Amino acid sequence: MKVLVVGRGGREHAIVWAIAQNPRVDKLYCAPGNGGIAALAECVPVTELDFAGIAAFAKEKQIDFVVIGPDDPLAAGIVDYLEAEGLKVFGPRKNAAEIEGSKAFMKELLRKYNIPTAAYETFDSYDLALAYLRTRPLPIVIKADGLAAGKGVIVAYTREEAEQALAGIMVDKTFGASGEKVVIEEFLEGQEMSLLAFVDGSTVKPMEPSQDHKPVFDHDKGPNTGGMGTYSPLPHVHSSIVEEAIRTIVQPTADALVAEGRPFRGILFAGLMLTAEGPKTIEFNARFGDPETQVILPRLESDLLEILLAITEGRLEEADIRWSDSAAVCVILASEGYPGNYPKGLPIEGIEDAEWDALVFHAGTALTPDGEGIVTAGGRVLGVVGRGADIEEARDRAYAAAGRIRFQGVHYRSDIAAKALTKSGRVE
Ligand code: AMP
Ligand code: GLY
Repeated sequence: MKVLVVGRGGREHAIVWAIAQNPRVDKLYCAPGNGGIAALAECVPVTELDFAGIAAFAKEKQIDFVVIGPDDPLAAGIVDYLEAEGLKVFGPRKNAAEIEGSKAFMKELLRKYNIPTAAYETFDSYDLALAYLRTRPLPIVIKADGLAAGKGVIVAYTREEAEQALAGIMVDKTFGASGEKVVIEEFLEGQEMSLLAFVDGSTVKPMEPSQDHKPVFDHDKGPNTGGMGTYSPLPHVHSSIVEEAIRTIVQPTADALVAEGRPFRGILFAGLMLTAEGPKTIEFNARFGDPETQVILPRLESDLLEILLAITEGRLEEADIRWSDSAAVCVILASEGYPGNYPKGLPIEGIEDAEWDALVFHAGTALTPDGEGIVTAGGRVLGVVGRGADIEEARDRAYAAAGRIRFQGVHYRSDIAAKALTKSGRVE
Protein backbone atom coordinates (compact mmCIF):
# COMPACT_ATOMS: atom_id res chain seq x y z
CA MET A 1 0.00 0.00 0.00
CA LYS A 2 0.94 3.61 -0.55
CA VAL A 3 -0.16 5.88 2.29
CA LEU A 4 -0.11 9.67 2.58
CA VAL A 5 -0.37 11.36 5.99
CA VAL A 6 -1.36 15.05 6.02
CA GLY A 7 0.13 17.27 8.76
CA ARG A 8 3.43 18.36 10.28
CA GLY A 9 3.31 18.04 14.09
CA GLY A 10 4.23 15.60 16.83
CA ARG A 11 0.86 13.91 16.40
CA GLU A 12 1.59 13.23 12.74
CA HIS A 13 5.07 11.93 13.61
CA ALA A 14 3.45 9.45 16.01
CA ILE A 15 0.84 8.47 13.38
CA VAL A 16 3.54 7.98 10.73
CA TRP A 17 5.62 5.96 13.22
CA ALA A 18 2.65 3.65 13.92
CA ILE A 19 1.62 3.27 10.27
CA ALA A 20 5.22 2.52 9.24
CA GLN A 21 5.01 -0.65 11.36
CA ASN A 22 2.38 -2.21 9.07
CA PRO A 23 4.10 -4.69 6.75
CA ARG A 24 1.59 -3.94 3.98
CA VAL A 25 2.91 -0.37 3.67
CA ASP A 26 5.57 -0.13 1.02
CA LYS A 27 5.60 3.64 0.56
CA LEU A 28 4.77 6.32 3.08
CA TYR A 29 4.50 10.05 2.31
CA CYS A 30 3.79 13.00 4.56
CA ALA A 31 2.57 16.43 3.47
CA PRO A 32 4.31 18.56 4.53
CA GLY A 33 5.92 16.60 7.43
CA ASN A 34 8.87 17.79 9.51
CA GLY A 35 12.52 17.09 10.31
CA GLY A 36 11.76 13.90 12.25
CA ILE A 37 9.03 12.51 10.03
CA ALA A 38 11.55 12.68 7.16
CA ALA A 39 13.35 9.65 8.64
CA LEU A 40 10.22 7.46 8.16
CA ALA A 41 8.32 8.98 5.25
CA GLU A 42 9.06 11.01 2.15
CA CYS A 43 8.06 14.57 2.99
CA VAL A 44 6.38 16.47 0.17
CA PRO A 45 6.17 20.27 0.08
CA VAL A 46 2.37 20.49 -0.08
CA THR A 47 0.59 22.19 2.83
CA GLU A 48 -2.47 21.00 4.76
CA LEU A 49 -4.95 23.47 3.28
CA ASP A 50 -3.82 23.06 -0.34
CA PHE A 51 -6.58 20.53 -1.14
CA ALA A 52 -6.00 20.66 -4.89
CA GLY A 53 -2.26 20.12 -4.39
CA ILE A 54 -2.88 17.15 -2.07
CA ALA A 55 -5.38 15.59 -4.51
CA ALA A 56 -3.03 16.06 -7.48
CA PHE A 57 -0.11 14.51 -5.58
CA ALA A 58 -2.20 11.57 -4.33
CA LYS A 59 -3.45 10.80 -7.83
CA GLU A 60 -0.03 11.15 -9.41
CA LYS A 61 1.52 8.72 -6.89
CA GLN A 62 -1.53 6.42 -6.88
CA ILE A 63 -1.97 6.72 -3.12
CA ASP A 64 -4.25 4.02 -1.68
CA PHE A 65 -5.12 5.79 1.58
CA VAL A 66 -4.87 9.38 2.84
CA VAL A 67 -4.86 10.00 6.61
CA ILE A 68 -5.67 13.51 7.84
CA GLY A 69 -3.97 14.58 11.11
CA PRO A 70 -4.90 18.19 12.00
CA ASP A 71 -8.15 20.03 12.67
CA ASP A 72 -7.98 22.92 10.16
CA PRO A 73 -8.21 20.88 6.95
CA LEU A 74 -10.96 18.70 8.48
CA ALA A 75 -13.00 21.76 9.46
CA ALA A 76 -12.48 23.15 5.94
CA GLY A 77 -13.83 19.95 4.34
CA ILE A 78 -10.71 18.15 3.10
CA VAL A 79 -12.38 14.74 3.41
CA ASP A 80 -15.37 15.72 1.25
CA TYR A 81 -12.98 17.25 -1.29
CA LEU A 82 -10.65 14.26 -1.58
CA GLU A 83 -13.55 11.79 -1.64
CA ALA A 84 -15.07 13.72 -4.53
CA GLU A 85 -11.71 13.27 -6.29
CA GLY A 86 -12.08 9.50 -5.88
CA LEU A 87 -9.56 9.05 -3.06
CA LYS A 88 -9.90 6.90 0.04
CA VAL A 89 -9.53 9.18 3.06
CA PHE A 90 -9.47 8.77 6.83
CA GLY A 91 -11.26 11.47 8.83
CA PRO A 92 -14.71 12.94 9.42
CA ARG A 93 -16.50 14.88 6.70
CA LYS A 94 -16.99 18.61 7.16
CA ASN A 95 -20.48 18.37 8.67
CA ALA A 96 -19.24 15.96 11.38
CA ALA A 97 -15.93 17.81 11.96
CA GLU A 98 -18.01 20.85 12.91
CA ILE A 99 -18.17 19.35 16.40
CA GLU A 100 -14.66 20.79 16.77
CA GLY A 101 -14.77 23.62 14.22
CA SER A 102 -17.57 25.46 16.03
CA LYS A 103 -17.84 25.47 19.80
CA ALA A 104 -21.32 27.01 19.46
CA PHE A 105 -22.46 24.04 17.32
CA MET A 106 -20.94 21.58 19.79
CA LYS A 107 -22.60 23.23 22.78
CA GLU A 108 -26.01 23.35 21.06
CA LEU A 109 -25.75 19.66 20.09
CA LEU A 110 -24.90 18.66 23.66
CA ARG A 111 -27.72 20.79 25.06
CA LYS A 112 -30.23 19.29 22.59
CA TYR A 113 -29.28 15.71 23.48
CA ASN A 114 -28.85 16.33 27.19
CA ILE A 115 -25.16 15.40 27.24
CA PRO A 116 -23.27 16.69 30.32
CA THR A 117 -21.29 19.91 29.71
CA ALA A 118 -20.69 23.27 31.40
CA ALA A 119 -23.63 25.73 31.38
CA TYR A 120 -23.02 28.45 28.78
CA GLU A 121 -24.29 31.25 26.58
CA THR A 122 -23.15 32.23 23.09
CA PHE A 123 -22.88 35.83 21.84
CA ASP A 124 -22.03 37.61 18.63
CA SER A 125 -22.49 41.07 20.16
CA TYR A 126 -19.71 42.40 22.38
CA ASP A 127 -22.10 44.62 24.37
CA LEU A 128 -24.49 41.78 25.18
CA ALA A 129 -21.58 39.47 26.02
CA LEU A 130 -20.11 42.07 28.39
CA ALA A 131 -23.45 42.67 30.10
CA TYR A 132 -23.90 38.92 30.62
CA LEU A 133 -20.32 38.47 31.82
CA ARG A 134 -20.87 41.08 34.53
CA THR A 135 -23.74 39.02 35.99
CA ARG A 136 -21.72 35.77 36.25
CA PRO A 137 -19.72 34.43 39.21
CA LEU A 138 -15.94 33.91 39.05
CA PRO A 139 -13.95 32.08 37.86
CA ILE A 140 -15.48 32.17 34.40
CA VAL A 141 -14.38 30.72 31.07
CA ILE A 142 -14.34 32.71 27.82
CA LYS A 143 -13.84 30.99 24.47
CA ALA A 144 -13.45 32.15 20.90
CA ASP A 145 -15.96 30.17 18.82
CA GLY A 146 -13.66 28.89 16.07
CA LEU A 147 -10.30 27.17 15.93
CA ALA A 148 -7.41 28.94 17.66
CA ALA A 149 -4.65 26.31 17.97
CA GLY A 150 -5.78 25.46 21.51
CA LYS A 151 -5.18 29.02 22.67
CA GLY A 152 -8.62 30.61 22.26
CA VAL A 153 -9.78 29.74 25.78
CA ILE A 154 -9.25 31.99 28.79
CA VAL A 155 -10.06 30.92 32.34
CA ALA A 156 -10.49 34.23 34.17
CA TYR A 157 -10.17 34.49 37.95
CA THR A 158 -10.79 38.25 38.23
CA ARG A 159 -13.31 40.66 36.64
CA GLU A 160 -10.44 42.52 34.99
CA GLU A 161 -9.03 39.36 33.39
CA ALA A 162 -12.49 38.36 32.21
CA GLU A 163 -13.25 41.70 30.58
CA GLN A 164 -9.81 41.90 29.01
CA ALA A 165 -10.23 38.42 27.56
CA LEU A 166 -13.61 39.29 26.05
CA ALA A 167 -12.32 42.54 24.54
CA GLY A 168 -9.24 40.70 23.23
CA ILE A 169 -11.38 38.14 21.41
CA MET A 170 -14.25 40.34 20.18
CA VAL A 171 -12.78 43.84 19.81
CA ASP A 172 -9.05 43.37 19.18
CA LYS A 173 -9.71 40.09 17.31
CA THR A 174 -6.67 38.35 18.82
CA PHE A 175 -7.83 35.09 17.23
CA GLY A 176 -9.07 36.67 14.00
CA ALA A 177 -12.40 35.49 12.61
CA SER A 178 -12.52 32.73 15.27
CA GLY A 179 -13.58 35.50 17.66
CA GLU A 180 -16.68 36.72 15.84
CA LYS A 181 -18.73 34.61 18.22
CA VAL A 182 -17.85 33.97 21.82
CA VAL A 183 -18.92 31.26 24.27
CA ILE A 184 -19.05 32.24 27.95
CA GLU A 185 -19.28 29.24 30.20
CA GLU A 186 -19.35 28.02 33.76
CA PHE A 187 -16.01 27.04 35.32
CA LEU A 188 -15.80 23.31 36.00
CA GLU A 189 -13.70 22.10 38.87
CA GLY A 190 -11.88 18.78 38.80
CA GLN A 191 -9.27 16.69 37.01
CA GLU A 192 -9.10 16.75 33.25
CA MET A 193 -9.14 13.64 31.11
CA SER A 194 -8.68 13.21 27.37
CA LEU A 195 -10.79 10.34 26.12
CA LEU A 196 -10.27 9.52 22.46
CA ALA A 197 -12.30 6.96 20.58
CA PHE A 198 -12.29 5.26 17.21
CA VAL A 199 -15.74 6.05 15.83
CA ASP A 200 -17.66 4.79 12.80
CA GLY A 201 -21.22 6.14 13.00
CA SER A 202 -22.70 4.61 16.14
CA THR A 203 -19.82 2.18 16.70
CA VAL A 204 -17.52 3.56 19.41
CA LYS A 205 -14.27 1.89 20.48
CA PRO A 206 -12.58 3.95 23.18
CA MET A 207 -8.84 4.32 23.44
CA GLU A 208 -6.94 4.36 26.72
CA PRO A 209 -7.45 7.64 28.64
CA SER A 210 -4.71 10.24 28.91
CA GLN A 211 -4.18 13.65 30.46
CA ASP A 212 -2.74 16.78 28.89
CA HIS A 213 -1.08 19.77 30.60
CA LYS A 214 -2.19 22.92 28.80
CA PRO A 215 -0.62 25.83 30.74
CA VAL A 216 2.96 26.63 29.79
CA PHE A 217 4.51 26.61 33.29
CA ASP A 218 4.73 24.19 36.23
CA HIS A 219 1.75 23.96 38.62
CA ASP A 220 -0.56 24.91 35.71
CA LYS A 221 0.61 28.53 35.66
CA GLY A 222 0.80 30.84 32.66
CA PRO A 223 -1.13 30.97 29.41
CA ASN A 224 -2.64 27.90 27.75
CA THR A 225 -0.68 26.20 24.98
CA GLY A 226 -1.46 23.43 22.52
CA GLY A 227 -0.28 21.03 25.28
CA MET A 228 3.00 20.75 27.22
CA GLY A 229 2.93 17.06 28.07
CA THR A 230 0.76 14.00 28.53
CA TYR A 231 0.63 10.64 30.21
CA SER A 232 -1.38 7.45 29.92
CA PRO A 233 -2.95 5.55 31.64
CA LEU A 234 -4.44 7.59 34.52
CA PRO A 235 -3.82 5.37 37.58
CA HIS A 236 -5.82 7.69 39.86
CA VAL A 237 -8.99 7.55 37.69
CA HIS A 238 -11.08 4.44 38.28
CA SER A 239 -12.19 2.51 35.20
CA SER A 240 -15.83 2.99 36.25
CA ILE A 241 -15.42 6.75 35.64
CA VAL A 242 -14.06 6.09 32.17
CA GLU A 243 -17.00 3.77 31.51
CA GLU A 244 -19.41 6.43 32.77
CA ALA A 245 -17.85 8.99 30.41
CA ILE A 246 -18.30 6.64 27.46
CA ARG A 247 -21.88 5.82 28.43
CA THR A 248 -23.01 9.38 29.19
CA ILE A 249 -20.88 11.44 26.79
CA VAL A 250 -18.96 9.73 23.98
CA GLN A 251 -21.56 7.17 22.83
CA PRO A 252 -24.51 9.63 23.05
CA THR A 253 -22.52 12.21 21.06
CA ALA A 254 -21.71 9.71 18.30
CA ASP A 255 -25.40 8.73 18.26
CA ALA A 256 -26.47 12.40 18.21
CA LEU A 257 -24.29 13.07 15.17
CA VAL A 258 -25.88 10.10 13.38
CA ALA A 259 -29.36 11.37 14.33
CA GLU A 260 -28.47 14.82 12.96
CA GLY A 261 -27.46 13.31 9.62
CA ARG A 262 -23.77 13.99 10.28
CA PRO A 263 -22.36 10.50 10.99
CA PHE A 264 -18.84 10.74 12.39
CA ARG A 265 -16.10 8.56 10.93
CA GLY A 266 -12.73 9.14 12.48
CA ILE A 267 -11.21 9.93 15.84
CA LEU A 268 -13.64 11.55 18.26
CA PHE A 269 -11.74 13.14 21.11
CA ALA A 270 -13.64 14.20 24.24
CA GLY A 271 -11.91 16.70 26.53
CA LEU A 272 -13.57 16.02 29.89
CA MET A 273 -13.61 17.45 33.39
CA LEU A 274 -14.13 14.84 36.10
CA THR A 275 -16.33 16.88 38.44
CA ALA A 276 -17.96 15.90 41.73
CA GLU A 277 -21.18 15.46 39.70
CA GLY A 278 -19.52 13.11 37.21
CA PRO A 279 -17.69 13.64 33.91
CA LYS A 280 -18.64 16.76 31.93
CA THR A 281 -17.60 17.79 28.44
CA ILE A 282 -15.15 20.67 28.00
CA GLU A 283 -14.65 20.22 24.28
CA PHE A 284 -14.79 17.79 21.40
CA ASN A 285 -12.10 17.40 18.80
CA ALA A 286 -12.52 15.62 15.47
CA ARG A 287 -9.00 14.17 15.32
CA PHE A 288 -6.18 12.67 17.32
CA GLY A 289 -4.90 14.86 20.18
CA ASP A 290 -1.50 16.47 20.23
CA PRO A 291 0.35 15.47 22.44
CA GLU A 292 -2.12 12.75 23.56
CA THR A 293 -1.33 10.64 20.47
CA GLN A 294 2.33 10.49 21.45
CA VAL A 295 1.45 8.52 24.61
CA ILE A 296 -1.55 6.59 23.28
CA LEU A 297 -0.14 5.06 20.10
CA PRO A 298 2.95 3.59 21.81
CA ARG A 299 0.47 1.69 24.03
CA LEU A 300 -1.58 0.34 21.11
CA GLU A 301 -0.64 -3.28 20.49
CA SER A 302 -2.84 -3.72 17.42
CA ASP A 303 -2.07 -2.30 14.01
CA LEU A 304 -3.18 1.34 13.66
CA LEU A 305 -3.49 1.35 9.88
CA GLU A 306 -5.83 -1.67 9.90
CA ILE A 307 -8.10 0.11 12.42
CA LEU A 308 -8.17 3.33 10.37
CA LEU A 309 -9.00 1.32 7.24
CA ALA A 310 -11.76 -0.52 9.10
CA ILE A 311 -13.35 2.80 10.11
CA THR A 312 -13.15 4.17 6.58
CA GLU A 313 -14.70 0.99 5.19
CA GLY A 314 -17.50 0.99 7.81
CA ARG A 315 -16.41 -2.18 9.64
CA LEU A 316 -14.94 -0.86 12.90
CA GLU A 317 -17.17 -3.31 14.80
CA GLU A 318 -14.91 -6.20 13.81
CA ALA A 319 -11.54 -4.43 14.27
CA ASP A 320 -8.92 -5.89 16.60
CA ILE A 321 -7.99 -3.29 19.25
CA ARG A 322 -5.67 -4.26 22.09
CA TRP A 323 -3.76 -2.07 24.56
CA SER A 324 -0.59 -2.68 26.53
CA ASP A 325 -0.59 -2.40 30.36
CA SER A 326 2.58 -0.30 30.24
CA ALA A 327 2.66 3.45 30.85
CA ALA A 328 3.88 6.33 28.68
CA VAL A 329 4.79 9.92 29.57
CA CYS A 330 5.45 12.66 27.00
CA VAL A 331 7.38 15.83 27.86
CA ILE A 332 7.16 18.64 25.31
CA LEU A 333 10.32 20.65 24.67
CA ALA A 334 9.22 24.13 23.58
CA SER A 335 10.90 27.22 22.15
CA GLU A 336 11.66 30.15 24.45
CA GLY A 337 8.66 32.51 24.40
CA TYR A 338 6.02 29.97 23.32
CA PRO A 339 2.98 30.34 23.24
CA GLY A 340 3.95 33.93 22.37
CA ASN A 341 6.62 34.80 19.81
CA TYR A 342 9.66 32.57 19.62
CA PRO A 343 12.81 32.22 17.50
CA LYS A 344 13.21 29.58 14.79
CA GLY A 345 16.16 27.90 13.11
CA LEU A 346 18.14 27.10 16.28
CA PRO A 347 20.31 23.97 16.07
CA ILE A 348 19.18 20.99 18.20
CA GLU A 349 21.73 18.59 19.72
CA GLY A 350 21.36 15.30 21.53
CA ILE A 351 18.29 13.74 19.89
CA GLU A 352 20.14 10.49 19.19
CA ASP A 353 21.24 10.25 22.82
CA ALA A 354 17.64 10.72 23.93
CA GLU A 355 16.45 8.05 21.50
CA TRP A 356 18.64 5.53 23.25
CA ASP A 357 15.79 4.75 25.67
CA ALA A 358 12.92 7.05 24.67
CA LEU A 359 10.82 7.86 21.62
CA VAL A 360 11.37 11.35 20.26
CA PHE A 361 8.49 12.68 18.19
CA HIS A 362 9.27 15.88 16.33
CA ALA A 363 6.68 18.66 16.46
CA GLY A 364 8.30 21.83 15.11
CA THR A 365 11.62 20.87 13.53
CA ALA A 366 13.22 21.10 10.10
CA LEU A 367 16.23 19.52 8.46
CA THR A 368 19.17 21.82 7.70
CA PRO A 369 19.65 22.41 3.96
CA ASP A 370 22.41 19.75 3.80
CA GLY A 371 19.99 17.27 5.44
CA GLU A 372 22.50 16.52 8.20
CA GLY A 373 21.26 18.59 11.14
CA ILE A 374 17.95 19.40 12.82
CA VAL A 375 16.81 22.92 13.74
CA THR A 376 13.82 24.32 15.61
CA ALA A 377 10.88 25.38 13.41
CA GLY A 378 7.91 25.81 15.76
CA GLY A 379 6.70 26.63 19.28
CA ARG A 380 6.42 23.04 20.40
CA VAL A 381 9.64 21.49 19.12
CA LEU A 382 9.91 17.88 20.33
CA GLY A 383 7.89 15.40 22.37
CA VAL A 384 10.05 13.02 24.38
CA VAL A 385 8.18 9.86 25.36
CA GLY A 386 9.36 7.55 28.12
CA ARG A 387 7.79 4.14 28.53
CA GLY A 388 7.81 1.88 31.57
CA ALA A 389 5.91 -0.56 33.73
CA ASP A 390 4.22 2.34 35.53
CA ILE A 391 3.93 6.15 35.30
CA GLU A 392 6.87 6.75 37.63
CA GLU A 393 9.25 4.66 35.55
CA ALA A 394 7.96 6.15 32.29
CA ARG A 395 8.27 9.68 33.66
CA ASP A 396 11.84 9.13 34.91
CA ARG A 397 12.86 7.83 31.49
CA ALA A 398 11.17 10.75 29.70
CA TYR A 399 12.93 13.34 31.85
CA ALA A 400 16.31 11.61 31.68
CA ALA A 401 16.05 11.57 27.88
CA ALA A 402 14.73 15.16 27.68
CA GLY A 403 17.77 16.30 29.68
CA ARG A 404 20.08 15.02 26.95
CA ILE A 405 18.55 17.31 24.32
CA ARG A 406 19.84 20.85 23.96
CA PHE A 407 18.83 23.94 22.02
CA GLN A 408 19.04 27.60 22.98
CA GLY A 409 16.21 28.65 25.32
CA VAL A 410 14.63 25.17 25.57
CA HIS A 411 11.70 25.17 27.98
CA TYR A 412 9.77 22.24 29.41
CA ARG A 413 7.55 21.64 32.40
CA SER A 414 9.12 19.61 35.19
CA ASP A 415 5.82 18.33 36.63
CA ILE A 416 4.31 16.29 33.80
CA ALA A 417 2.35 13.34 35.30
CA ALA A 418 2.79 14.67 38.86
CA LYS A 419 -0.99 14.59 39.25
CA ALA A 420 -0.91 10.83 38.78
CA LEU A 421 1.62 10.41 41.56
CA THR A 422 -0.14 12.24 44.40
CA LYS A 423 -2.99 10.63 46.29
CA SER A 424 -5.40 13.51 45.87
CA GLY A 425 -4.61 13.84 42.18
CA ARG A 426 -3.66 17.47 42.78
CA VAL A 427 -0.30 19.14 42.41
CA GLU A 428 0.75 20.77 45.67
P1 AMP B 1 -10.42 23.84 25.37
O1 AMP B 1 -9.58 24.39 24.26
O2 AMP B 1 -11.88 24.09 25.22
O3 AMP B 1 -10.06 22.42 25.68
O4 AMP B 1 -9.96 24.59 26.68
C1 AMP B 1 -8.60 24.68 27.04
C2 AMP B 1 -8.44 24.46 28.51
O5 AMP B 1 -9.14 25.45 29.25
C3 AMP B 1 -9.00 23.14 29.00
O6 AMP B 1 -8.11 22.09 28.81
C4 AMP B 1 -9.26 23.45 30.46
O7 AMP B 1 -8.07 23.35 31.20
C5 AMP B 1 -9.69 24.86 30.44
N1 AMP B 1 -11.16 24.95 30.39
C6 AMP B 1 -11.94 25.05 29.30
N2 AMP B 1 -13.24 25.10 29.63
C7 AMP B 1 -13.30 25.01 30.98
C8 AMP B 1 -14.37 25.03 31.94
N3 AMP B 1 -15.64 25.16 31.58
N4 AMP B 1 -14.04 24.94 33.25
C9 AMP B 1 -12.75 24.86 33.63
N5 AMP B 1 -11.70 24.85 32.78
C10 AMP B 1 -11.96 24.93 31.48
N1 GLY C 1 -3.94 18.29 23.39
C1 GLY C 1 -5.19 18.85 23.08
C2 GLY C 1 -5.51 18.87 21.65
O1 GLY C 1 -4.95 18.17 20.85
O2 GLY C 1 -6.40 19.62 21.31
